Amino acid sequence: MIQTPYYLIDKSKLLRNMEKIALLRERSGAKALLALKCFATWGVFDFMRDYMDGTTSSSLNEVRLGHERFGKETHAYSVAYADYEIDEVVSHADKIIFNSIGQLQRFEKQSAGIIRGLRLNPGVSSSTFDLADPARPFSRLGEWDVKQVEPVMDLISGFMIHNNCENGDFDLFDTMLGQIEEKFSPLLKKAEWVSLGGGIHFTGDAYPLERFAERLKRFAGDYGVQVYLEPGEASITRSTTLEVTVLDKLYNGKDLVVVDSSIEAHMLDLLIYRENAKVSPNQGPHRYMVCGKSCLAGDIFGEFDFPSELNVGDRISIQDAAGYTMVKKNWFNGVKMPAIAIRELDGSLRTVREFSYTDYEQSLS
Ligand SMILES: Cc1ncc(COP(=O)(O)O)c(C=O)c1O
Repeated sequence: MIQTPYYLIDKSKLLRNMEKIALLRERSGAKALLALKCFATWGVFDFMRDYMDGTTSSSLNEVRLGHERFGKETHAYSVAYADYEIDEVVSHADKIIFNSIGQLQRFEKQSAGIIRGLRLNPGVSSSTFDLADPARPFSRLGEWDVKQVEPVMDLISGFMIHNNCENGDFDLFDTMLGQIEEKFSPLLKKAEWVSLGGGIHFTGDAYPLERFAERLKRFAGDYGVQVYLEPGEASITRSTTLEVTVLDKLYNGKDLVVVDSSIEAHMLDLLIYRENAKVSPNQGPHRYMVCGKSCLAGDIFGEFDFPSELNVGDRISIQDAAGYTMVKKNWFNGVKMPAIAIRELDGSLRTVREFSYTDYEQSLS
């Protein structure tokens, strides 16, 4: 038995998403790039590579990782590049997408040797939480004025538009794409490629994949563009768990258990967005509040129902622990960093990374 805490990536679950992505690519003609900001655990890139076209990035580190560890097509994007990093970014990328006309013009010479694009902001999004809403008022994410973009069209050949956010509603996607077409059609007609970003939950069980594929194909045909998607969460959703062990039990008006992990250190995104973790099947007569071991009073995974009483030493699997989770893990409180393990297709388990005191020490100086 592997010592907890550890993240467990299950390749057979990952395969379900990969097969849907491959099917979508085939039916729609769109290319799919893994968004490394969401998931960058390169130990499974060899496996994912067969089903996807490459990676997209948000920084120099990510574009380098994508180039070196995933290969295939490598897109570079960043909200802003610094002068000292641009040459190295370009050396790792097939395409560079600038967030603003200012950055495009600033790095015009350095980026002249690769394909260039610009991020557009259509001013509409599926997000209901302003923290994650690229179309929030005064957003810095992309250009929105057609008149400003037209004069720089000779420097670029395509666009990236990321305005979906955890969007599992195809009709909403369709409506917003219509709004994008209405707003940006003069630009789209001049483009050779358009990336529609991530945030589309098309690998979900009930998602109408055929309608989605048909819509992407129509968009590509109408404007004569190669469509790209940048799935992060959709690529890895429901593939990974965080395995933890109960260390203590308390009763303070509710039954509490403390586990050998921390939501703040190991599943930070849930805390930021004020969401509960998931436990499956979450059924049974024994309800516990599952708490982390950091000093943060609100370090709580959530309240869940279990089929039997929990005791010290029992293990719990926290579901859906891949996206925006492993990329955000941190050393708060010096809590033991979860190892990373992979369950192979034949069911065998393999630990691919363990973290030690030296890693903690080396993370600061
Ligand atoms: C530009 C861009 N592309 C792709 C993604 C990936 O989104 P998701 O993980 O929701 O699919 C994001 C997420 O913020 C993004 O900002």
